[in-house]
Amino acid sequence: MNVLHRRSFLKGLAAFPGAALCGILGAKNASASIATPETVEAPALPWGYKELDPEYLRKLGHLGYYAFECGGGAFWAMMTALKEAMGYPYTVIPLPTRKAVINHLKNKKSGMHLQVMMQFGVGGVANFGSLCGAPNGASSAINIALPMGDVKEVVPRLMRYYETTPFPSDKANETALKKAFYPPKYKSDKSLPQSASHSVLCHVSVGGWCEKAGYASGSKERSERCARLTGDISAMGGILLNAHMKGELHTVFPMKVSQETAGCRTCHSKGKKYESGQFTRGMMECGNCHDDMRPHLGENKLKTVYGADIGKWSGAAAMGTAAGLGAHAVSKRFGKGETDNDE
Ligand code: HEC
Ligand code: HEC
Repeated sequence: MNVLHRRSFLKGLAAFPGAALCGILGAKNASASIATPETVEAPALPWGYKELDPEYLRKLGHLGYYAFECGGGAFWAMMTALKEAMGYPYTVIPLPTRKAVINHLKNKKSGMHLQVMMQFGVGGVANFGSLCGAPNGASSAINIALPMGDVKEVVPRLMRYYETTPFPSDKANETALKKAFYPPKYKSDKSLPQSASHSVLCHVSVGGWCEKAGYASGSKERSERCARLTGDISAMGGILLNAHMKGELHTVFPMKVSQETAGCRTCHSKGKKYESGQFTRGMMECGNCHDDMRPHLGENKLKTVYGADIGKWSGAAAMGTAAGLGAHAVSKRFGKGETDNDE
């Protein structure tokens, strides 16, 4: 079933020679988990990557959505592109071929069952409405390709791209109008309305788009919007990997949080200073959920783990301004998007 492509595997040695060598040794001693003689144990991560074509990824991601929805679709798209570029060890992951997926769509009644990893990401983790499946699935592939330290550089950029970009992108809409996507029959062939979610939550992203576009969450148009979005996120995954390869990550996608979020994070970030606000963490756009800053204006209600009062909180109106927060951020309501200085 899984054939070793040692030749293409050796070509991949350039990116991560250490890991690849372990892989080949590991493969020799592999104990067969599934009873086929060709089966080998997968080598240690990361598996490396080569330059990928973002427009090909956009089309794969869109097709992937049709078969595996957002989480499985983005994962399948990135992994398929990586497999085609690298061969082994990507060949040990169960990934139906593009042709098999298209045939499956042509003849859904054939009874053929297709399933991939990360498919649980659908609808914000099994329809729970939390993290959108597209960045979840794409990040999972990035996690396989890159060393973990670099994953932490690339993935937040993908998340930030998700928060700030109006989806579906112009490129995705154009590709649909040109009928250049792979599925034999589109859910919708229109150019679809675009909206930026300012949130990585499926719930917020789908809700915001539906409200703007006037289509219901169960409509074909919403589904097509998510297919194009899955293509866009897969394409961006490729763009970021390519930039990483050339050492251009910081210029291709400078990692900025919005001015507002940067203000909040001067006090509320991961750290040891509990009393100054370091009892939380994260990089999401704060104002998407927190629009009531009144707690900052009153007395400090903070209690430590020992139950002792921290003392007077002088009010974030003054402190916040000093910390570069700006008066608008402590006003009752933030204008959404107004303070976003990211392209
Ligand atoms: C997706 C919505 C959402 C986003 C985005 C968000 N928060 Fe929250 N945050 C919550 C919820 C829900 C709670 C818990 C309920 C509450 O206390 O309001 C919370 C709680 C907090 C608390 C209280 C302490 C705690 O951890 O329970 C702080 C401080 C906080 N958030 C700061 C931030 C900052 C700073 C950002 C941006 C970096 C941010 N939040 C982004 C939803 C969000
Ligand atoms: C100058 C430091 C500072 C800045 C800037 C700041 N905070 Fe806070 N924040 C605090 C401290 C300290 C507390 C705890 C206050 C208390 O509970 O009495 C707090 C409390 C909170 C809480 C919990 C409120 C509650 O009801 O328990 C939330 C939510 C929060 N901040 C969100 C934000 C967001 C969003 C921003 C940016 C718009 C922000 N903060 C900016 C210091 C700051």
